[in-house]
Amino acid sequence: MENPKIALLLAIACLLTATATATAAGAGETSWIQTFCRGNKSTTKLHFYVHDVRAGPNATLFNVANSSITATSPTAFGRVNVFDDSVTVAPDITSEEVARAQGTTTSMDLNVQAYSMNLNFFLTSGEFNGSTVTVIGRNQFADEERELSVATGSKAFRDARGYAITKTVSFEEATNYSVLEYTIYVKTSKRCSYVASASS
Ligand SMILES: *[C@@H]1O[C@H](CO)[C@@H](O)[C@H](O)[C@H]1NC(C)=O
Ligand SMILES: *[C@@H]1O[C@H](CO)[C@@H](O)[C@H](O)[C@H]1NC(C)=O
Ligand SMILES: *[C@@H]1O[C@H](CO)[C@@H](O)[C@H](O)[C@H]1NC(C)=O
Ligand SMILES: *[C@@H]1O[C@H](CO)[C@@H](O)[C@H](O)[C@H]1NC(C)=O
Ligand SMILES: *[C@@H]1O[C@H](CO)[C@@H](O)[C@H](O)[C@H]1NC(C)=O
Repeated sequence: MENPKIALLLAIACLLTATATATAAGAGETSWIQTFCRGNKSTTKLHFYVHDVRAGPNATLFNVANSSITATSPTAFGRVNVFDDSVTVAPDITSEEVARAQGTTTSMDLNVQAYSMNLNFFLTSGEFNGSTVTVIGRNQFADEERELSVATGSKAFRDARGYAITKTVSFEEATNYSVLEYTIYVKTSKRCSYVASASS
């Protein structure tokens, strides 16, 4: 059993860490990545924008396969796309890139437009540069807000669990360009004491 005094000190250390991270980005502005404590587990919140460009010279998403019924299906059933999308801190594609969103979507609902997602966020910046967060789930993309699952991750996010909320921010028909907002909560098995010492 844990010493209650140590537990209290850990809790205080966590609170201080959360405050320090939250204020680091400056007044009124929140960082795209924040780590804090929930219970005694470390949780990282990621907030950023994915740029899904399907046509034109800067396309990052490509169609790789169709099923025998895709062409006649109202939901493009069986279509598989592969993507390597830029992930930035703001909705503007020219804002700072902090990750790539890499994976595949498969249209897998016969009645409603929806994707089965295999989405790996590969962080290319910040204290967890090089780590990945793996998001999977059912994405009924006409819904304003969709919830997906964080299944696991690598390095800083090894054995992670959590969830992601995504919304379509804008859509430009000429290049089939969508901007998607993602807010992700990633819980790892790391104790808060680790977070407190790692960020000091
Ligand atoms: C902290 O973690 C331990 C297991 O590592 C668990 O038994 C305990 O209930 C947790 N405490 C809180 C406040 O979440
Ligand atoms: C493609 O990307 C380049 C470099 O970022 C940019 O200058 C150009 O405007 C983009 N083209 C389109 C059609 O978005
Ligand atoms: C899939 O079908 C669409 C039309 O529905 C077509 O534009 C596309 O080229 C096809 N993709 C492949 C990989 O055959
Ligand atoms: C992220 O890590 C890669 C590989 O170690 C390195 O080349 C790159 O400069 C790092 N990026 C930042 C923003 O720290
Ligand atoms: C955009 O996507 C739709 C549906 O997949 C397709 O019919 C259309 O040709 C695409 N437009 C461009 C410019 O590729």
